[in-house]
Amino acid sequence: MKVAIPKEIMTGERRVAATPETVDKMIKAGLEVRIESEAGQAASFFNADYEKVGAKIAPDAASVYANADFILKIQRPLMNEKIGKHEADLIKEGAILIALLQPLAYPDLAKTLAEKKITAFSVDLIPRITRAQRMDVLSSMASIAGYKAVLLAASTFGKLIPMMTTAAGTLPPAKALILGAGVAGLQAIATAKRLGATVEAFDTRPAVKEQVKSLGAEFVELDLGHEQAEDAGGYAKELSPEFYKKEKELIHQRVKAADIVITTALIPGKKAPVLITAEMVKDMKKGSVIVDMSVEQGGNCELSKMGQEVVEEGVTIIGATNLASSVPIHASQMYSKNLLNFLFHLYVNKELKLDLNDEITRGSLLTHKGEILHTGVKK
Ligand code: NAI
Repeated sequence: MKVAIPKEIMTGERRVAATPETVDKMIKAGLEVRIESEAGQAASFFNADYEKVGAKIAPDAASVYANADFILKIQRPLMNEKIGKHEADLIKEGAILIALLQPLAYPDLAKTLAEKKITAFSVDLIPRITRAQRMDVLSSMASIAGYKAVLLAASTFGKLIPMMTTAAGTLPPAKALILGAGVAGLQAIATAKRLGATVEAFDTRPAVKEQVKSLGAEFVELDLGHEQAEDAGGYAKELSPEFYKKEKELIHQRVKAADIVITTALIPGKKAPVLITAEMVKDMKKGSVIVDMSVEQGGNCELSKMGQEVVEEGVTIIGATNLASSVPIHASQMYSKNLLNFLFHLYVNKELKLDLNDEITRGSLLTHKGEILHTGVKK
């Protein structure tokens, strides 16, 4: 069977869906691999590195997609302005597309893929269960993004992060506040600590308190009353309006003292909760920085703008998108390993194994045989 690795065409995307290491493993497993010329270049993987392990280099987009059985991508198919064709139109009927399709944000694409009878797996739908950990691209990318968000804040902030005793006096350490201590939040905490900030964090799930403390940060406590913060799967649940009111009061107090705020709060499948209002920004210190990582889901800060850096009331608010792509080498390595594990879940002993009763396969299968299978997207 033939695997295609196209060059990503989304503006600013520097990652590639397969590295020479994962291509080598695919070829050893009996797959034929074709990669578009320079697909890995922005991540420092060159045509010659792929050729060395046995991949064929396709000169352009049309020839990489032609006749491919599996298409491995990072971003969803988009209009390729250079050749005047949508990437979805280059995929043959019955082929298997594996990518970050974000179907709840782009349901029309799911319709197109179904109409074209493409079997599409959206790796952002892979259930976060133990068996699927090796395939969990969201966690891999969120770890990188949490780290990078702090570096972005540090390079924007007009002060130093660590405490410094100098000939000109002693400078206090910066205060970082991390809202949401999931995968991205925990990595942001660890990074801010390593840079020397004093760090505090808040999450609605009391279960993360120990993890926050083990990284050396303070956990901000808020009494949940009788409310359950987690569902059966351990994910955050939506809480009552009364709780969110109390939470906002608490955050208002904390942001006043913070120099750097990283927001990562999210409930899967929902719009991100607004935790920092315009009023709160007014009360923050001039020169402080907010990095809103949930901006693509609507934003945790009322004033953040997707992909932009804005200054309001002397506070810089960064609506950070696609942070993982700014660390393209490691991000490609991690993504492609997760993807390889997923591919080998579907391709076993040189045969395609589409077990629709399997939780991982069924959970991530978006379209198959002309139908949209994901109930949320169908709705
Ligand atoms: P996650 O689901 O592991 O973590 C989200 C955390 O938010 C959970 O621990 C949850 O309990 C907490 N939370 C929910 N409601 C809250 C509230 N009201 N107050 C405080 N905490 C609350 O998600 P992950 O993977 O860490 O991603 C976090 C965010 O970062 C998401 O919005 C994700 O889309 C975004 N992200 C952004 C990237 C970028 O480049 N901008 C890259 C990767 C992720």
